[in-house]
Amino acid sequence: MKTLNEDINIEIVEPNNKHSFASVLSCGLNGVNAYPVEIEVDISGGLPNFILVGLPDAAINESKERVRAAIKSSGLEFPSKKIVVNLAPADTKKAGPTYDLAIAIGILTCNEVIDSSNLNDIWVVGELGLSGKIRQVNGVLSFVISAKNNGAKGIIIPKENKEEAALIRGINIYPIDSLSEAIETIKNIKRIKSFTSLNLEKEIKEEINQVDFSEVKGQLLAKRALEIAAAGGHHVLMIGSPGSGKSMLAQRLSTIMPPLFHEERIEVTQIYSAGGKLNSNRKIIIGRPFRTPHHSASAAGLIGGGSIPQPGEISLAHKGVLFLDELTEFQKRVLDSLRQAIETKEITLSRSRKSSTFPCDFILIAACNPCPCGYFGDNLKKCTCSTFEVRKYLNKISGPILDRIDLQVEVKRLNENELISNQTSENSLSIKRRVIEAREIQKKRYKDLKINLNSEVGSRNIREHCKLSTNGEGILKEAIKSLALSARSYDRLLKVSRTIADLSNSDIIKDEHILEALQFRLSTFKA
Ligand SMILES: Nc1ncnc2c1ncn2[C@@H]1O[C@H](COP(=O)(O)OP(=O)(O)OP(=O)(O)O)[C@@H](O)[C@H]1O
Ligand SMILES: [Mg+2]
Repeated sequence: MKTLNEDINIEIVEPNNKHSFASVLSCGLNGVNAYPVEIEVDISGGLPNFILVGLPDAAINESKERVRAAIKSSGLEFPSKKIVVNLAPADTKKAGPTYDLAIAIGILTCNEVIDSSNLNDIWVVGELGLSGKIRQVNGVLSFVISAKNNGAKGIIIPKENKEEAALIRGINIYPIDSLSEAIETIKNIKRIKSFTSLNLEKEIKEEINQVDFSEVKGQLLAKRALEIAAAGGHHVLMIGSPGSGKSMLAQRLSTIMPPLFHEERIEVTQIYSAGGKLNSNRKIIIGRPFRTPHHSASAAGLIGGGSIPQPGEISLAHKGVLFLDELTEFQKRVLDSLRQAIETKEITLSRSRKSSTFPCDFILIAACNPCPCGYFGDNLKKCTCSTFEVRKYLNKISGPILDRIDLQVEVKRLNENELISNQTSENSLSIKRRVIEAREIQKKRYKDLKINLNSEVGSRNIREHCKLSTNGEGILKEAIKSLALSARSYDRLLKVSRTIADLSNSDIIKDEHILEALQFRLSTFKA
């Protein structure tokens, strides 16, 4: 019997089973922290197809089209084969267009356009445009930190992100503008000079205070409250009639705080970078942030949120000032969401597959009018509200938030003499000097506890560090009774007294320090 092959002359074509494989190191973002992602590319014969695996979200799936178009636009061949791209670790959900460039480089390595040996210990991040242009991505500063910590020698990043990347020393930064430039850079990686120069002088000069405390006339008590707040990291509530200068004072708080250290600038810039808040005008954060969310802000806007968690206002105010103007107009639910963040100085946002943590160590300055018409207690204008209306208005400030505020101060409108006076007030620089000295004292005192400020002392250590005279104890006992202080308010009162003592370079907390701290508890809020 003839076999089929003998009968019919069929030419059997060997399927093209040749595989080519490449792996490129890239990075993913979780909160402000980055983690390594390995992009594995496998190209084999078979029907042309392009498959992405490893829990990609919609934006990454779309990267297939961007990668295909960018490779073709750069005058290179896009393999008409079966391409499988795996984003490892496969159990973490990947989001955003960050991996475009690494996927393209992986495909070009398989295609032998790039020699894989040039990619050893080089990480790659960037979004591709259809023309092959590289767009900036969020989180580059965190990517560079992660690459350095994981032993990378260098990282290829979008050119527009180069300033934030250059905040990190000890890793080679290669900023690029297009896919073609990325290819050239990788081919010449051993010869090419990395980007290091970052001259912060210009930015620092620009940041130098545009506003100053000397512009605020009078208001000595409010200024003193802000000086204490800046020195010890305490929270402040200012109550006063319209136009008394509350907003003006709050805007100037950061001008009396010490400049950020390099590490702090990195921390703050990381948050802005992760949240996509950097742009061509603000490429890194140099000065202390000042954030003023509107009272219509949602809880997500304030504390952070979104399906891919984004930092909220409290995190954007990290190491700076969060100013809640018109405090009584904020929704109670929104304010209550702040309670935990104020204590822990970080916020964890949990989503189905992962949770992201953002730091939020800020000084809270809140302001409101004393009553609905705004003139309760005003020297010149008569208040038209009933006692009931005043009570109801102030009761809108949630108790737990009030409990977390260390200094309450009444800001009265200036009288005619103060208003027309030409006397200049003390400027920010001179107040800042005292603040810095008081902070130095605190830093030395708490060096074993690894904290820096009086406001950070836990209740376990508070008695040891806030020693009182016998007389002082008596004053405080009386205050607890008459002001109905909670345990938390009592601790806060002690810490404020400690800061006042530090501002006058006193080792022990004297009676006058306690009495001054007690001045910043308004009888309006007596229980
Ligand atoms: N102490 C002051 N010294 C100099 N100017 C002042 C002072 N207080 C108020 N002003 C002037 O009044 C304007 C309004 O002040 P500001 O906005 O700070 O008031 P406010 O207390 O926040 O009022 P509102 O309750 O309406 O928000 C300021 O821009 C400033 O020009
Ligand atoms: Mg105001």
